[in-house]
Amino acid sequence: MSGQRIEIAGTDVSFECADGDTILRAGLRASLGLSYECSVGSCGTCRVELVAGEIETVWPAAPGISERDQARGRRLACQSRALSPCTIKTRLVPDNVPPVRPERRPATLIGSRALTHDMREFTFRAEGPASFVAGQYALIEFGPEIGPRAYSMSNLPNERGEWRFVIKRVPNGKGTAALFAATAGARFELDGPYGLAYLRTAPRDILCVAGGSGLSPMLAIVRAAASDARFDGRRITLCYGGRTPDDLCAEAEISMLPGYGTLIRHLAAVSDAEAAARAGYAGKVGFIHAVVEEIFGDTLNDHEIYFSGPPGMGDATQKMLVLTRKVPVNQVHFDRFY
Ligand SMILES: Cc1cc2nc3c(=O)[nH]c(=O)nc-3n(C[C@H](O)[C@H](O)[C@H](O)COP(=O)(O)OP(=O)(O)OC[C@H]3O[C@@H](n4cnc5c(N)ncnc54)[C@H](O)[C@@H]3O)c2cc1C
Ligand code: FES
Repeated sequence: MSGQRIEIAGTDVSFECADGDTILRAGLRASLGLSYECSVGSCGTCRVELVAGEIETVWPAAPGISERDQARGRRLACQSRALSPCTIKTRLVPDNVPPVRPERRPATLIGSRALTHDMREFTFRAEGPASFVAGQYALIEFGPEIGPRAYSMSNLPNERGEWRFVIKRVPNGKGTAALFAATAGARFELDGPYGLAYLRTAPRDILCVAGGSGLSPMLAIVRAAASDARFDGRRITLCYGGRTPDDLCAEAEISMLPGYGTLIRHLAAVSDAEAAARAGYAGKVGFIHAVVEEIFGDTLNDHEIYFSGPPGMGDATQKMLVLTRKVPVNQVHFDRFY
């Protein structure tokens, strides 16, 4: 496959960007520590300055960059395809070097099972081992009309080439409509793994906080830590917040793990007090970040913390942990969902 050479200004680093690939994904495939978060044009973290060369923008309406920034020559690396050799200005971050090189691969949908009224776990099979670190995500390609969407793996890496994702159906969502309508045997392209909020081996107890669609990577982290001797003796807590009691499903997914009830614990909360009262729900009521703060308080600093969920939940959790509770940023790991 032919491609274009991308040089990083002021360094001797350059990499090949294959035709059809974006500058971000090509750079990560070359094991470079580029800055990014969502890979799909929403967060703005992958902004670079285009110093020389010609690019085409995959999704011109991507919300991650303003017109003003574009007028100043800035571009989203995740939305840029090189049409000529290019020079970009960006800062490489050693911590962002991918732990596993991302790859594109055709994948077949094997089937799905319901977790709640609007969440299902989808299983795909692809050639070669499913290599990733728990907490990472892959991009599912839905074609030029819809574009790619990011989904976090819920299972453990494996040699069988099995990729699982817990996905929440979004009303009027194009990608989830296509997925929930798909039947076994449907073919997709998977590209990954991506993401920096993956399981770290720090010597602390583990706290995973998920809201709504954010369950998938937190399940993977709990499952991975529970099956890895390096985490023996650590307490692992999964806190899951839904809107109503009908949204709660996390306990059933982890209650079979060895150590459940002692070292591995689950805590749930629902945010809709009226729905909770109507259902006679006797558990915690409140936003999950507030419930976590109430329960863990000053001990939050003793944990390695992972969280995932929609932007509102993510912002509130990050603010509570880092600004209010002063948990060191290197103990807090997240990829915001958009
Ligand atoms: C890192 C990450 C991990 C995620 N993990 C999960 C998960 O495990 N489970 C889960 O349920 N959800 C997850 N999400 C959310 C998921 O990616 C989708 O946003 C969600 O499923 C809604 O998609 P939709 O197509 O149904 O909705 P839509 O409303 O059609 O689209 C949703 C988003 O896609 C973007 N978009 C729209 N058009 C385009 C285009 N042409 N090209 C590229 N992007 C476009 C928009 O920013 C929009 O916010 C994750 C998101 C991110 C960023
Ligand atoms: S906008 Fe490119 S990584 Fe989020």
